[in-house]
This record gives sequence, structure tokens and C-alpha cells, in this order.
Amino acid sequence: MKILLLGSGGREHAMAWKMVQSEKCNQLFVAPGNAGTEQIAKNVSINPNDFDAVKNLVVTENINLVVVGPEDPLVNGIYDFFKNDAELAHIPVIGPSKKGAQLEGSKEFAKQFLVKNNIPTARYESFTAENLEKGYAFLETLHPPYVLKADGLAAGKGVLILNDLANAKDELKNMLVDAKFGAASTKVVIEAFLSGIELSCFVLTDGKSYKILPTAKDYKRIGEGDTGLNTGGMGAVSPVPFATPEFLEKIEERIVKPTIQGLQNDNIEYKGFIFIGLIKVGEDPFVIEYNVRMGDPETEVVMPRLKTDLVEIFEAIAKQELDKISIEIDERAATTIMMVSGGYPEDYEKGKEISGLVEANTDSIVFHAGTKLENNKVLTNGGRVLAVTSYGKTYQEAIAQSYNSINKISFDKMYYRKDIGFDL
Ligand code: AMP
Ligand code: GLY
Repeated sequence: MKILLLGSGGREHAMAWKMVQSEKCNQLFVAPGNAGTEQIAKNVSINPNDFDAVKNLVVTENINLVVVGPEDPLVNGIYDFFKNDAELAHIPVIGPSKKGAQLEGSKEFAKQFLVKNNIPTARYESFTAENLEKGYAFLETLHPPYVLKADGLAAGKGVLILNDLANAKDELKNMLVDAKFGAASTKVVIEAFLSGIELSCFVLTDGKSYKILPTAKDYKRIGEGDTGLNTGGMGAVSPVPFATPEFLEKIEERIVKPTIQGLQNDNIEYKGFIFIGLIKVGEDPFVIEYNVRMGDPETEVVMPRLKTDLVEIFEAIAKQELDKISIEIDERAATTIMMVSGGYPEDYEKGKEISGLVEANTDSIVFHAGTKLENNKVLTNGGRVLAVTSYGKTYQEAIAQSYNSINKISFDKMYYRKDIGFDL
């Protein structure tokens, strides 16, 4: 089978790494990919949001399956684009329909879906510029800290958590009236703050049945002790030690089952990953957000623990036969540490030569995130550069191994957090 994977990050390298291990994968294309995917697949320089270019590639290369890594092509409707095109309709796309992708594309849609299906989540209301005053009044009914969320996609930056009421009102006005996050903040969801520890649950669905993948926890802040600016994620651990069987059972019964049922009730086509961002409040799980793709860097710990053939899983999803697959998970823990360019998540430089990759890849798996290959040299090409994944009998052992391997890698101004797992 010839497969096309869209995306270019560590998530895509980890998915590509897993798919090329399948006997069913004859050829893998990654668009646009990075230096890591280049070494195991064929990179094609196409923007995943340029659907006509994607179509051209799929038709000329006779691709049999398309897997979508990031959210924006999904929110832009790539699933429907294939379904509604006579030449493409028979080619399965792993991902939700445009409607389903609204679970990530619109915070308000997600909150309405959660409430309608009685899934535990923070109390909320949503506002536009026309009812700004009502927004102020709703803020006054809440206790600090105040949580403001731009409704639309804002590259992970659209959530503000503010301690001061006056400040929260100012920011609400900035978002609604002064378009702080552009069109994404035309509407704002204000919700009650939930206090607890976060984790992520990953679900695969074919629209009829579902399978739960291993849990993972990521570390979003740039600084040690979870301080400083938010990033895409600086490291991840799987499984999550505090996700006991009893807690996982609550997640499945109260959240996963009603989510799948809710999609069916609303006739929302969904053949792909659901990433449920959760917070553990006391002993109970609450949904913070849905994403309609895998997490990054969570994929870099989830894929290494998945023993089942990923291409077989995707085929089963396409045929709506996911219930016939059994998902096997490696008992070992996996951890990943993200190596980033100095300055990230603000301004940083690119084009730095990376050394030590081969040496580090012996005891760990080095997934590339922001890299490119130039004259046979691997250069940095993004804020998040490499995700260094290791296995261990315990997560502590795996983390120690990742730090060991990181010591072999170097590039100018590299940075990584030295405390991944500190709170477990
Ligand atoms: P989101 O983009 O919705 O995942 O929000 C980004 C981050 O903001 C989450 O990972 C949480 O750390 C935090 N967050 C969002 N909503 C809440 C909430 N209701 N209570 C506490 N923290 C929240
Ligand atoms: N690591 C969080 C995300 O992928 O959204």
C-alpha cells in the first residue's frame, strides 16, 4: 500500500517510524516532512493545506491511504474534500470530517457538545463583541483565576489564564473588540478554572467503535517547574503513573463512551484520532479540550509503546472494522525530552548544524521535529528541533536514558528542560 502522511513535526516522524515497520506499507510519502522522515520515507514539498496539490500527488502517485497529522487541514475540511471529489472519494483519509474537526476548531462547539452529552467539563458561557457587558457580568460570577479562550484556532496561544478581574475584563475586550487573536477571538469562551493535574487520553475511532491508546502527560511550559511561556510541549511521559485502572475506567465510562455516542447521535463522520485533554480534580476526570489529531510530543511516547501494526489499524478504521483489531501495548514506560532552539517559543534562529544524532539513536529513538537536510547535514529548522524518546522499566529509568542520549547531541543555543516528570 502507498501511504501519504501530512505534516512535518515530531508527531509525524513518530507516526512515519511506526508505519514503515508495517509489511503493508510499500511506500510512504510525507508532505512536507523533515530531515527525520526524509531518512525513512519520501518527503514531498507540499503544504498540507493546499488540497489541490495534495490531490495531484495522490492521483499521480496512486496513493491508497492518507493520514493527517496536524489539525488545520482537518479543520479546513480535507476529509470532505476527498469524499466529495470523484477521483478521490475511494481513498480513505484518517481524520474527522470538517464537522467533527470543529471539536478542536471551535471551543464553543466543543463545549456545547460536552454539555449536550453530559460529559464533565468546566462551567462556561460564550460571548461576542455585541454582548461584552454580559461577559464582564459573567466574569464577576466566577472566582479567580479567570479562563478566557478564543473560540477558533490560535496556534495554541488562544487561552489566557488571569488572576485579576480587571485584567480579565481588559483581555476579554482585547480579544473581542480589538481582535487580539484575529478572527479566532471573534467569539470567546469564558470558563470556570479547574484545579488539578493534567493528562491526555488518546482514542481511535472508526465512527462505530473505539480503541483507547496509552495515556500520556506532556509538559507545556518552557521553564523548569512548569514556569514561563506556553510551548507546543517540552516533553512527555507514558503511561501516566497517577492514571490508575479505576481512574481510567471513569475516563472511559464518563468521557470516551459518551463522546463516541455523541458523534453518532449527531451523524458526525469521524475516522481518526481523538485527543482528550483532561484534568484530574480530586478523583474525577474533567475535559479541558478536545483535539482531533494526536498530540505532539505525546505521539513520540505513544507510538513507541504501540505494538499493533499501525497500518492495519488505519485499514480497519477505513473499513469501519476497528472492533476486529486488538491493540497491544508495550509494558515499558516511554518518555521523550524535547530539544528546542534557544529563544523558543519566542524568536529563535534556524539553520544550526546538529551533531551526535547517530550516537544518540543507539539507546534512544531520536524523532526529528524542526529539522531539514541540506548537503547531507541535518540543520535546525524550527523551535522544537528533536524529541529524544527512551524506554525504561519505570518512567524514571526512561527519563534518565533520554538525558543520557541528549548529552551526545549538540547544536548552537540548544535548550531542553531538565525536570521532565518532576511532578509525578
Ligand atoms: P486548552 O487550549 O483548552 O487546552 O487550554 C490550554 C491550557 O490552559 C490547558 O492545557 C490547561 O493547562 C489550561 N486550562 C484550560 N482550561 C482550563 C480550566 N478550565 N481550568 C484550568 N486550566 C485550564
Ligand atoms: N502537546 C499538546 C498538543 O499537541 O496539543
